Amino acid sequence: MVLDIRAARQVRKMRQRDLASAVGISVHELMKLERGLVTPPKKLLQQISICLEMDVEQLIIGQDRFCQNPLTGEGYVTSQPKGSTTIPRREGLDVGKKAVLDLFCGVGGFSFGFEMNEAFQVVAGVDLLTDRLQTFSNNHHSANAYGQDIRAISTDLLDNENPRPFVIVGGAPCQGFSSIRPFRNVERNDPRNNLVEEFCRIVHELQPEWIVFENVVGMLTHEKGRTLRSVIGSFEELGYRTSYRVLNAAYYGLPQRRERLIIVGNKRGKSFKWFEPTHWCEYRSMAGHQKFVLKPLGGLFSQELKPAVTVNEAIHDLPPVGAGESATTYRDDAEPTPYETFIRNQTCQLTMHEATAHSNRMLEIIRQAGTNIYALPDGMVSSGFSSCYSRLNGEEPSVTLTVNFVHPASNRCIHPTQDRALTPREGARLQGFFDTFKFVGTRSQIVKQIGNAVPPLLGNVIAQGILESD
Ligand SMILES: C[S@@+](CC[C@H](N)C(=O)[O-])C[C@H]1O[C@@H](n2cnc3c(N)ncnc32)[C@H](O)[C@@H]1O
Repeated sequence: MVLDIRAARQVRKMRQRDLASAVGISVHELMKLERGLVTPPKKLLQQISICLEMDVEQLIIGQDRFCQNPLTGEGYVTSQPKGSTTIPRREGLDVGKKAVLDLFCGVGGFSFGFEMNEAFQVVAGVDLLTDRLQTFSNNHHSANAYGQDIRAISTDLLDNENPRPFVIVGGAPCQGFSSIRPFRNVERNDPRNNLVEEFCRIVHELQPEWIVFENVVGMLTHEKGRTLRSVIGSFEELGYRTSYRVLNAAYYGLPQRRERLIIVGNKRGKSFKWFEPTHWCEYRSMAGHQKFVLKPLGGLFSQELKPAVTVNEAIHDLPPVGAGESATTYRDDAEPTPYETFIRNQTCQLTMHEATAHSNRMLEIIRQAGTNIYALPDGMVSSGFSSCYSRLNGEEPSVTLTVNFVHPASNRCIHPTQDRALTPREGARLQGFFDTFKFVGTRSQIVKQIGNAVPPLLGNVIAQGILESD
C-alpha cells in the first residue's frame, strides 16, 4: 500500500518517539519529515521502511504524494515547494500610499485591517493555498497574489513587480522551530529553512521601514521562551528595534476574545506606540499576568472604556435558521446595532448564512447543550474537551473561533439560542470581516479561511500605531 511516513507509522500503531529512536533521529526531526518540511535522504527512508515493515519504493512514492498535496494544520501548511501561480492586481497602485507586503497572507485578514486605514495599500501577498489566495485577491484589488511556497519565492520578483514595501506583515508558522540560525547563513532553497527564516530573508532583502510579525500566544512559551528570543534576536540582527505585546481583539471592539502575539520592529530605531485597549471584558490571558499582555486600564470601573461587543450585538440582525437551512435577507424587524451597521458595510445582500445540516443524534445533543460539555447527560458523548458541544453566551464576546466552528464538537460554537452550530456568516461576523468581503471556495474551505484568519481589526490597530510612531 502507498503511504506517507506518518500514515504508515499510524497504521503500525507506532509512537513517534519509538520510530525516531529506532532510526536514530530526534522526535523533532521525525516531526519535520512527517510534515513534509524536510526531504529525507534515501538511506534514512530505507531505515524507516524497515522499521515500518514496508517496501521503500512505496514509501518514497507515498511521501512524494503527500508533499504534492499540502495539508493545513493549525492554519499552516508545511509542504515541499511545488508549482506557482500569480493572480495579477486588478487595480492600479496609488503611489501616495504606504505599501504593505503580506507574507503567509491567507485571505489577508490582518493586512485588510491595514487597508481599512487609507494611508496604506496592500501591494502583494504570498500563500501556498490557491483558495486562500483567490479570496485574498478578491479583496485586495491592488495586490499581486503569489501562490507559491514562500521558500521558493524570489525577492527579485517581488521587487520588480511591486513597490518597495513600507511594511512587511506576516505570521510564519511556528511549527518546526528548533533554533533559528543567524539569517546570514540562510540560503535560498535550503530545505532546512524554517519559515521564520524565510520571513527574515525577505525582510533582509527588501528592507522595509517596519516589520509586523504575528503569531500564536503559545510562541511565548515555546521551547521555554527560546523560540521567541531567537525570533526577536533575528529581527534585531537585521537592524530592527523590536517590541512585542499580546493583544486581545475583544479589547479593541471585536465580539470575540482572540489573542495574538504581535512583534513590531522599526529599521530606524523608532519605538512603536502600542494602542491602549478601548473595550473591557473579563478574560484571563493565555499568557498569564505578564507585563507585555495589553489589558484595559481600570477595567470595569474605567469611564473611558466601553463594554466589549457581545455575540448578540454582532449577529442579532441575521434571521433565525434551523439546521440545514439558509437565509439571504437581513431581519427587517431588528434595528442593526452599531457593530452590525459597521460590519454590513452598506450592503443589503446577506450571504453565507447557511447552517450545517446536523444529524438527528447531533440535534439531540445540541438541544441539551449548555455552557460546557458537562451540561450534557452522562454518556451522551463519549469524549471531548470541556468546551466541545457547548453553547456560546450571547451576552459576552465569543471564545476563540476555530477552523471547525460549523461543527458542534468544536470549541464552543453552538448558537446562543438556536439549535445548530454557527453559520459561516456568523463566524465571519465574529472575526470582524465585512459582509461585503468576498470569500471564494467550497463551504468547508471558506470556513477554514474564516477560522484561520487574523481579525482585520487587529491589523487596523497596528496600522494606526505605525502611523503614530513613524
Ligand atoms: C494563519 S494563516 C494566515 C492568516 C493571515 N495572516 C490572515 O490574516 O488572514 C497562515 C497561512 O500560512 C500559509 N503558509 C503556510 N506555509 C506556507 C509556506 N511554506 N509558503 C507560503 N504560505 C504558507 C497557509 O497556507 C496559511 O494560509
